[in-house]
Amino acid sequence: MAVTIDLSGKGALVFGVANHRSIAASIASYLHQAGAQLTVTYQNERLKRGAAELVEGKERAAAVECDVMDEAALAAAVDTAAKTAPLAVVVHSIAFAERGDLEGDFSKTGLQGFRTALEVSAYSFVAVARAVAPRMAEGGSIFTLTFHAAEKVYPGYNVMGVAKAALENEVRMLAYEFGPRKIRVNAISAGPLNTLAARGISGFTGMHEVHAQRSPLRRNVTQDEVGAAALFLASPLASGITGETLYVDAGYHIMGV
Ligand SMILES: NC(=O)c1ccc[n+]([C@@H]2O[C@H](COP(=O)([O-])OP(=O)(O)OC[C@H]3O[C@@H](n4cnc5c(N)ncnc54)[C@H](O)[C@@H]3O)[C@@H](O)[C@H]2O)c1
Repeated sequence: MAVTIDLSGKGALVFGVANHRSIAASIASYLHQAGAQLTVTYQNERLKRGAAELVEGKERAAAVECDVMDEAALAAAVDTAAKTAPLAVVVHSIAFAERGDLEGDFSKTGLQGFRTALEVSAYSFVAVARAVAPRMAEGGSIFTLTFHAAEKVYPGYNVMGVAKAALENEVRMLAYEFGPRKIRVNAISAGPLNTLAARGISGFTGMHEVHAQRSPLRRNVTQDEVGAAALFLASPLASGITGETLYVDAGYHIMGV
């Protein structure tokens, strides 16, 4: 058996490009290099440039605006992507919480902030999966991005940890539901990466340093390493894997002390 990853003729839809540091940007690049017909989404006009730069000058690549909380915009983005090639890979790389909810005491989280974080960072994955599944007639791979704070305490990560715990549960529920349709659903749990979203978390710098000191590989991971793992999950090489949270964190999560 030849072990190569060839996604040519397959559609890949990647949600959540803000700029070149975005995890979505790295994943999108890997999928595109493997031959996929790529559609990336950006949240709004303000973030258009990052996505536009990513696809500029590339064949088989387009960028569309999509606020995932707007059902019509989500349906339109899925339509646009599915028109160019049958969808086989869908990546959800989206999270948001109010800045004030990513610092201080977790118990101070208010109802509105709780709703915002859970709706944008966890509910949206259900909405995306529901919108894309009917367009994945030949099956495929859907995955999202999560963080170790779904399971362990990271001071400052606060309500986003609750959202990630919900998200990881959704991965298992959706994997069960879509399994008979040959759609695999997984999560990648990335180690800390310096992105726009990460800068909103108080204590991110400390988190980044501690991971590098204590992880078995004694360093942080890179966006490229997450992109490469994503390509594996998207490919037939991962055909037996669903409902899984794959850690790409230099091994940090295995440590006790
Ligand atoms: N950076 C890290 O350390 C790290 C670690 C593990 C997991 N993650 C996760 O990776 C994912 C991507 O984050 P990132 O670090 O690449 O940062 P990022 O800021 O580049 O990406 C977050 C994206 O979410 C988008 N978004 C927020 N609300 C949206 C909405 N309503 N509609 C559409 N898009 C919306 C933003 O526009 C942005 O493109 C997130 O789920 C994040 O929690 C990040």
